[in-house]
Amino acid sequence: MVSWFVRGIRPKAFDAKDGKCVGTVVCKMGEHRGAFRGYIAMLVVLKPYRGRGIATELVTRAIRVMMESGCEEVTLEAEVTNKGALALYGRLGFIRAKRLYRYYLNGVDAFRLKLLFPRPDLGLDPMMMLGDERDGQHMDSPYL
Ligand SMILES: CC(C)(COP(=O)(O)OP(=O)(O)OC[C@H]1O[C@@H](n2cnc3c(N)ncnc32)[C@H](O)[C@@H]1OP(=O)(O)O)[C@@H](O)C(=O)NCCC(=O)NCCS
Repeated sequence: MVSWFVRGIRPKAFDAKDGKCVGTVVCKMGEHRGAFRGYIAMLVVLKPYRGRGIATELVTRAIRVMMESGCEEVTLEAEVTNKGALALYGRLGFIRAKRLYRYYLNGVDAFRLKLLFPRPDLGLDPMMMLGDERDGQHMDSPYL
């Protein structure tokens, strides 16, 4: 059984039995080319704990904090061969913005992945992405 997380932009997952850290996501937020953006630098879950939705939960929590902090987008790089990570981020709404040739020291290409948040100045309501329960209606969002 897994117990959860410290709050904030770098959530962690712990084994409830012995308190061991079993997964983490490392992120930052900052200005980049005139935009305030979030960046996911690292995501890892220990092998015996994979396939239980822990990474999804970690990334979802980090993204929620970034969105609430005013980020316009979240980016990261993933190896083109990393099917698990690409599937995970794809399910969370990330798109492949660019292919980076021989990005890693091992010579493997990367995809730059991007998650764009709705812009209020375009008439889109960012609250929709946070899950809006106005009028008792629940808007479906992974960042609830
Ligand atoms: C990638 C990683 C973080 C996934 O952790 P996890 O806790 O097992 O992920 P989740 O259980 O939240 O998986 C959510 C979804 O991601 C996808 N996914 C995750 N691992 C996958 C794999 N090995 N193969 C295919 N799809 C995978 C699936 O769509 C999965 O949903 P499903 O279980 O309903 O099929 C983990 O495998 C890991 O630590 N890998 C090594 C480090 C790494 O590659 N980090 C990412 C760098 S960009």
